[in-house]
Amino acid sequence: MSMDTSAFDATAHALSLRDVEVVYPDGTVGLRPARLSLASGSFVVLLGPSGAGKSTLLRSLNGLVQATAGRIEAAGIGDIHARGALRRHRQRCAMVFQQHQLIGRLTTLQNVLTGRLSYHSTLRSLWPLPLADKRLALDCLDRVGLIDCALKRVDELSGGQQQRVGIARAIVQQPRILLADEPVASLDPATSMRVLGLIHSICKADGITAVVSLHQVDLARRFADRVVGIGGGSVVFDGPPGLIDESVLAAIYGAGVPAPRVPALPAWLDMESVQRHRGALLEAAR
Ligand SMILES: Nc1ncnc2c1ncn2[C@@H]1O[C@H](COP(=O)(O)OP(=O)(O)OP(=O)(O)O)[C@@H](O)[C@H]1O
Ligand SMILES: [Mg+2]
Repeated sequence: MSMDTSAFDATAHALSLRDVEVVYPDGTVGLRPARLSLASGSFVVLLGPSGAGKSTLLRSLNGLVQATAGRIEAAGIGDIHARGALRRHRQRCAMVFQQHQLIGRLTTLQNVLTGRLSYHSTLRSLWPLPLADKRLALDCLDRVGLIDCALKRVDELSGGQQQRVGIARAIVQQPRILLADEPVASLDPATSMRVLGLIHSICKADGITAVVSLHQVDLARRFADRVVGIGGGSVVFDGPPGLIDESVLAAIYGAGVPAPRVPALPAWLDMESVQRHRGALLEAAR
């Protein structure tokens, strides 16, 4: 499947966040003002500990969470919250979830076809979908290696297979942006590598801009073009994976990464004594 990019400026940023802040109704700050521009076609990984704000940031990108300040702009659309823009933006913006969000009693093919519903009116979607949609859905199932399971109930598939159905359902939408919230968090390490590799190769082949939240630093290092580190609701790192070192990890994960051990200093130590005994103190701290 190739993507129609004719009406799309490939040089533009796919998404720009301008001082986007999310404060939930109960007053919890989900995201502190963030400024980011995501290059079209790039594979961006959000890294951060639990509660850092990864899902908040991801969900704000397709309006599932409302930004309480700032603006989110999408290429070819502008402000996603402008009149009429959100529906068009969501059509171009597919989502893959950690828990797949599949309908267990439906077949694999039927689940993938639900990814086409945004292209039809509510009334039209109550009727069998067009043959072209079914062909596209089968093509997507083939791409994720599940064509043989097309007519199987989806709840009979393994966790890794179900996530591949989730990927097929996202790409059948022919999106320009793919948002994936911890898509491999429920999978074993080998399956995680395969499933994330699949998302990466499809996005690269189709020129889809991907924003993927992960817990695994090794997977971020392997697949990301760019890593955005989030700690305590703030963007604390933004750069290529090659720049992730211990200090960056400490900034992202805070107390989650052991800090270097420094012996407690005696209470009587004043600045003059510190200067005088600097060498000995540094030696002790090593
Ligand atoms: N609907 C909500 N109402 C109030 N607070 C919320 C809501 N959703 C998230 N939060 C809070 O916002 C902060 C960021 O949460 P978020 O779910 O974005 O973190 P996360 O990085 O995705 O964590 P995890 O890795 O556990 O999924 C947390 O303090 C969380 O408790
Ligand atoms: Mg989350």
